[in-house]
Amino acid sequence: MSNPSLLILAGDGIGPEVMAEVSKIIDWFGANRGLNFDVSHDLVGGAAYDAHGVPLADETMAHAQEVDAVLLGAVGGPKYDDLDFSVKPERGLLRLRKEMDLFANLRPAQCFDALADFSSLKREVVAGLDIMIVRELTSGSYFGEPRGIFEENGERVGINTQRYTESEIDRVARAAFDLARKRAGRVCSMEKANVMESGILWREVVQAVHDADYADIELSHMYADNGGMQLVRNPKQFDVIVTDNLFGDLLSDVAAMLTGSLGMLPSASLGAPMENGRPKALYEPVHGSAPDIAGQGKANPSACILSFAMALRYSFDEGAEADRLEAAVEKVLADGVRTADLMQTDGGTPASTSQMGDAVIAALDASL
Ligand code: IPM
Ligand code: MG
Repeated sequence: MSNPSLLILAGDGIGPEVMAEVSKIIDWFGANRGLNFDVSHDLVGGAAYDAHGVPLADETMAHAQEVDAVLLGAVGGPKYDDLDFSVKPERGLLRLRKEMDLFANLRPAQCFDALADFSSLKREVVAGLDIMIVRELTSGSYFGEPRGIFEENGERVGINTQRYTESEIDRVARAAFDLARKRAGRVCSMEKANVMESGILWREVVQAVHDADYADIELSHMYADNGGMQLVRNPKQFDVIVTDNLFGDLLSDVAAMLTGSLGMLPSASLGAPMENGRPKALYEPVHGSAPDIAGQGKANPSACILSFAMALRYSFDEGAEADRLEAAVEKVLADGVRTADLMQTDGGTPASTSQMGDAVIAALDASL
């Protein structure tokens, strides 16, 4: 049998730097755990635009459809700010999500104990936090038609459309309930059913899926604005949150900051199972390309490394190895090896991106 395949799209800004550390980790699992991958590399975002004039070449898109999992770094940067909307770096990422039909975006927000003091909230509010946001990723106002900037009555009007079909809501609700079964068994669904018809339908369908197939799960509904407030007030009340594309974009950034640093948060974007039973999958850190620190060896590779841990868990059914990698990152933090984003102002010399990666490798060695 051939090895499972990985396509690495390191992208822009700090993407290549943090991905270089992931490559070390991938090699470690090959050398020490017999987990070998066929790894290929390609371009996305501004890097793809520079080479091909588009943020994702058709050949790259086709290759992404064939591999077992895509690992993505980050896209975008000020150099590309003035590009036409249709070729902006972000469009490359949105194309991957849409064409691979990656409808379930898993964004865990976990507060590592060693980092609880970095949160803008009090330690007792965030210590031990472990929530999972499931964001719908292929529909809603990101993709709904009509969209565009049009002329109307002598002025311009900008239009985006919030649109959800029953089947789109149904499948992401199932993804959330399935996850909750492996966690604390609670799902909170967030929408704006008080003002939006798409929210009314969302609530109805989530409830119907629950009643038909997931009665063992505790389901609650919340308006998304209240959800944002509750995430800051008392985040530990949540287990799994399921919400639409735009609300999920906002709420996952809020949840991210609870944990202290955006540099810690991984994500998985999953679609339907492929022929080999593995889901279509793309893994990426929640942080962006951070152009202000790119190329300086300052970036925290943890989110990208933890995204690979999610790949081990969700694509390759290697939950124990994912646990091993997550524990290694946690140990490094507890030992006080920190990149600049995780230093107190008087905290001494920060670790570089590669020192952080090497420390994770050392912790993996120690785990054997
Ligand atoms: C995210 C990002 C993206 C989004 C951008 C880069 C297109 O903010 O993954 O949360 O809006 O979905
Ligand atoms: Mg976002």
